[in-house]
Amino acid sequence: MENIKLTVSRSFDFVSQAAVENYKELAEKANLDLHNGAGAGSDFLGWLHLPSQTSAEFLADIEQTAQTLRRQCDIVVCIGIGGSYLGAKAVIDALSNSFDWLQQPRKNPVVVYAGQNIGEDYLFELQNLLKNRKFGIICISKSGTTTEPALAFRLLKTQLEQQQGLAAAKDLIVCITDKSRGALRTLANKEGYKTYIIEDNIGGRFSALSPVGLLPIAVAGFDVQALINGAYSIEQQTDISIPFHKNIAAQYAAVRNELYKNGKKIEILVNFHPKLHCISEWWKQLYGESEGKDGKGIFPAAVDFTTDLHSMGQWIQDGERSIFETVISVKTPNHTTIFPAWEQNLDGMNFLAGKRVDEVNKMAELGAMLAHLDGGVPQLKIELPALSEYYIGQLLYFFERACGISGYLLGINPFDQPGVEAYKKNMFALLDKPGYEEQSKAIKARI
Ligand code: PA5
Repeated sequence: MENIKLTVSRSFDFVSQAAVENYKELAEKANLDLHNGAGAGSDFLGWLHLPSQTSAEFLADIEQTAQTLRRQCDIVVCIGIGGSYLGAKAVIDALSNSFDWLQQPRKNPVVVYAGQNIGEDYLFELQNLLKNRKFGIICISKSGTTTEPALAFRLLKTQLEQQQGLAAAKDLIVCITDKSRGALRTLANKEGYKTYIIEDNIGGRFSALSPVGLLPIAVAGFDVQALINGAYSIEQQTDISIPFHKNIAAQYAAVRNELYKNGKKIEILVNFHPKLHCISEWWKQLYGESEGKDGKGIFPAAVDFTTDLHSMGQWIQDGERSIFETVISVKTPNHTTIFPAWEQNLDGMNFLAGKRVDEVNKMAELGAMLAHLDGGVPQLKIELPALSEYYIGQLLYFFERACGISGYLLGINPFDQPGVEAYKKNMFALLDKPGYEEQSKAIKARI
């Protein structure tokens, strides 16, 4: 097996290699603090050794539950928000056929999502889609009290029970939540649903390689053992025994922190394959929620190229020079499409005849990157040998480990998210939730 590869040299026109090498001690200490649980947020380091600690028996159990849902359902609704759905969606989208939901006949159910928004039309349309269809539910909430998934779950559980009857519905619902706390745990125990536990020491955005990500990914028909194997290989390659110059997580963390110090406040994650769009969404949450605090933090943004070269390309080439790009490049696509020759060449495109479409994509990638470099945009590149479970597993773990190191280099606690509570308090006060009477009066006086 190959490995994902990090290249940082296109940043050295903007920050010096020596300045990055100066992070050696700090980055190695940050990695050691993660390992020893000696840094901020050390109660939330359960993800660090998750790949090496995931047993074959546990994966077999996940696979068995997935098979039960696969056998009985045409559609499985994955309910969750933030870290409770983004990892699964990122992996499923990256590995699926781009037109997956239209494929017939199909081996596996279509996985759709709910509880990641409160759009009434979205929920109405979803309920309409599920009418008289064989569907199942995976409800994921660590706290078991988050409003968005709780709202979606009540609607869809009611519908499932009406369509299937109480007894049959019970076998079509799986809950993933805390082992003892929260309304979802109470409800799941009372109803006798199959459940999986999200360990106390694994925060939502670091939970993609736990049952939170693994069950929906297995339901969609992907090899979760290969995903974990890939993650495990990077767990080993970013371990404390690996020196700074060879540790890709430490290198990535150091370069982005040095760029940030030098005024590059926005990191744009770039992909050249539309099925990687949700990898960027997952990454945005991982880095945004982990690092954006105490008045600090790189703003994580993302673009899909070449699509967005025709929109955001202008800003990136010519706008304020406060950005850097991290490009996810896929070495070899899974399929081959050759551009045909036309005798009359009416469209003038014969210069591409006989080439793979990917060769055009790669030249667009190189062309855009060199242009952006000329325009003053530092770059990092992460190359994946291919889009497979193994390499996506490598990528996820790489970003997680680098995020922990990077957060410590920045001097913040990467494992809390106090800022997310502010909107919830206001919303509960505005909706007259019991217990929020005081806040309710105060907020209503402001509007
Ligand atoms: O990373 C996080 O902790 C958050 O994004 C959570 O995953 C998200 O808020 C959902 O929380 P819960 O799983 O408790 O419903």
